[in-house]
Amino acid sequence: MSADAAGRGMRAAVIHRYGGPEEFRTVAMPEPVAGPGQVLIDVTLAGINYADLHCRTGEYERYPLPAVLGADVVGRRRGDGRRVAALLRSGGGYAQVARAEAAHTVEVPDGVDDGQALALLEQGATAYGALTLAGRLRPGETVAVTSAAGGVGHLAVQLARELGAGRVIALASTPAKREFVRALGADRTLDPGGPELAGRLAELSAPGGVDVFVDLVGGGVLRAGLDALAPFGRLLSVGARGGAEENFSVDELADRSAGLVGFWLQHVLADRVLFAGIAERLFRLAADGRLVARIDRTVPLSGVAAAHRALAGRETMGKVLVDVHQEDRAG
Ligand SMILES: NC(=O)c1ccc[n+]([C@@H]2O[C@H](COP(=O)([O-])OP(=O)(O)OC[C@H]3O[C@@H](n4cnc5c(N)ncnc54)[C@H](OP(=O)(O)O)[C@@H]3O)[C@@H](O)[C@H]2O)c1
Repeated sequence: MSADAAGRGMRAAVIHRYGGPEEFRTVAMPEPVAGPGQVLIDVTLAGINYADLHCRTGEYERYPLPAVLGADVVGRRRGDGRRVAALLRSGGGYAQVARAEAAHTVEVPDGVDDGQALALLEQGATAYGALTLAGRLRPGETVAVTSAAGGVGHLAVQLARELGAGRVIALASTPAKREFVRALGADRTLDPGGPELAGRLAELSAPGGVDVFVDLVGGGVLRAGLDALAPFGRLLSVGARGGAEENFSVDELADRSAGLVGFWLQHVLADRVLFAGIAERLFRLAADGRLVARIDRTVPLSGVAAAHRALAGRETMGKVLVDVHQEDRAG
């Protein structure tokens, strides 16, 4: 069923219980209703983020079931028909109509297409916020980025360059990913697997060490980042994959004059002016061709399960999109 003429029904990818990717069902359901301060968006594309995998298993945000997951969309705002992108902090993205906070919605300029806008907003704002607000990156500094071929990572590599990093070291697990991030401007690449990660990082960042370590993985990789930090370096904890977490003592940080800084995009979103300013900067860079999001694949609503498997299986490079109307066109 497509959204009916009266605009009351839509299709969505829904989970009825927490679990594996097999829990997704594509169903017809009523459209959401916008409350005060909210807008409805006729979605063209929805994004898939790594955190969605944790939401699906119930390890992260637990939404009331049945639940529509998905944290970012692009489409047309109901009422004025303007092209907008939005971040959804309560899910609802994998659907033909999404409800968004007006404060978490930004207009998309003409020079940026829907796919680019969507790929840039959640993951680009994360990369930009981490590097600038948490990392306080200064021109000439050495930056290392983990999961560098991923949705956040491949934008962080480009933004580090744009912000004047002296050297960018990109960690990615396969030769194809490392070739991809080299083409984006990484000076050095590194396989995060294998022994002596800290030593290999130290070699690549010699003689000074890493000034800003953007960590999207956690665990042993975060520890290696600390060990390779330059004096006054900043270790940014931006993401984790659910493995064992590292604990650092104050002494370990003090011994290196190092900073351990967390970053959560929610704190950017809580400041409407900050969020809008970052989105504008990202869109301007994209319109000028200085920042390019790679779209790994675009799947239909019925392909969300396969896309989750691909992300978990480390198969993707860049952003994964959902064309929420693809099935309708096909059928
Ligand atoms: N703090 C915030 O506000 C915020 C906002 C957005 C995202 N994040 C976090 O940023 C990270 C990146 O998010 P994303 O959506 O851009 O995902 P992503 O990086 O595109 O995720 C896929 C990649 O993660 C890497 N990876 C490392 N360890 C993995 C593992 N154990 N299992 C599967 N993949 C693994 C793989 O790259 P390799 O094979 O090259 O290792 C894989 O290709 C996530 O941890 C996410 O939660 C945080």
